[in-house]
Amino acid sequence: MAAILETHRAYRRTPGTGTAEKPVSIELTAEATLPDGGKLGPHDVLIRIRAVSLNCRDIAMLNGHYTMNTLDNVIVGSDWAAEVAALGSAVTDFKVGDLVSPIFALEYRTGNEHVEVDQFSMLGGDCDGSLGEYHLTWEENKTALLQGTGGVSMFALLIALAGGIKPIISSSSDQKLEAIKMLAPRARSWSAAVRAMLGGKGVDIIVNNTGPPNIRADIATLRRNGRISLVGFLKGVLADWNPAQLIALIGKSGSITGIAFGAKTHFEALNRFIEEKNIRLEPHVDRVFSFDEPKAAFEYLDSGKHVGKVVIKF
Ligand SMILES: NC(=O)c1ccc[n+]([C@@H]2O[C@H](COP(=O)([O-])OP(=O)(O)OC[C@H]3O[C@@H](n4cnc5c(N)ncnc54)[C@H](OP(=O)(O)O)[C@@H]3O)[C@@H](O)[C@H]2O)c1
Repeated sequence: MAAILETHRAYRRTPGTGTAEKPVSIELTAEATLPDGGKLGPHDVLIRIRAVSLNCRDIAMLNGHYTMNTLDNVIVGSDWAAEVAALGSAVTDFKVGDLVSPIFALEYRTGNEHVEVDQFSMLGGDCDGSLGEYHLTWEENKTALLQGTGGVSMFALLIALAGGIKPIISSSSDQKLEAIKMLAPRARSWSAAVRAMLGGKGVDIIVNNTGPPNIRADIATLRRNGRISLVGFLKGVLADWNPAQLIALIGKSGSITGIAFGAKTHFEALNRFIEEKNIRLEPHVDRVFSFDEPKAAFEYLDSGKHVGKVVIKF
């Protein structure tokens, strides 16, 4: 395998929104080839891009004529011909040297997804595109739907990422989704997250922080053999659905597992995993208060403005 450089060259759209009179341009940048200190996740697939053909939309996004969602300053480019350069330890479908041509709309897999078209993660539009020397993508692997951006969800997010499970985080707040976009590109508003899964193949794991009211929607969102981990009760404990609807679990061979914290042995195993995978917990801490301001810390948590944990430091 050829040595993989720490950084590689790519072209990003220059910041801002272009117009026909004053289009934005593209600029050469140096990009980290692998995040997190150069380690591949278990299901990661690093591809080396060999050629990109230009598309009409690449220009339309420079001069403001493009009609779909775009993000500012992303790597441009809509298609590619590439070869596999490196693989995570759990990848089974590819080998180094395979010639590949990834799909254009990353979230559009089966053709039956009920996803709004502007949420497909289209290369060079609302996610980084192809005009760079390398791109880190992934082999299809397990997915987890994490409800909300609180302490439980954000911790589950870090564990899922380290374990090669693709997280989908849903939230009531677009602002919070924006804040975690780097960690969880598959972050969605509540209704869209559920709808996205209904027509597609569903998710393998649901971390249910909301309690019984959401179980019916959870079952509908579950993939075959999937599991709902019943963790919380943010929406209360009373549900307005009929218990007969649990029968849908049979059709999916699905399960609901109650989670009552963990035992000492679980905690030790978790800590070993965190150490082994070098999981950094910083993104998990939203705000740190001093020992003298506990009331402010409690009020901040109660406000629901946080993403992850609120900490009091001595
Ligand atoms: N079973 C266990 O062992 C265990 C352990 C710890 C916690 N829990 C329980 O798990 C739940 C989550 O705890 P946490 O520490 O993560 O809480 P948290 O830090 O307060 O976060 C909750 C987040 O969930 C979202 N949310 C709040 N109310 C909601 C609602 N009615 N419907 C949907 N989403 C809502 C919000 O995120 P957005 O603003 O992004 O939507 C909020 O920030 C709680 O019920 C807690 O008691 C259970």
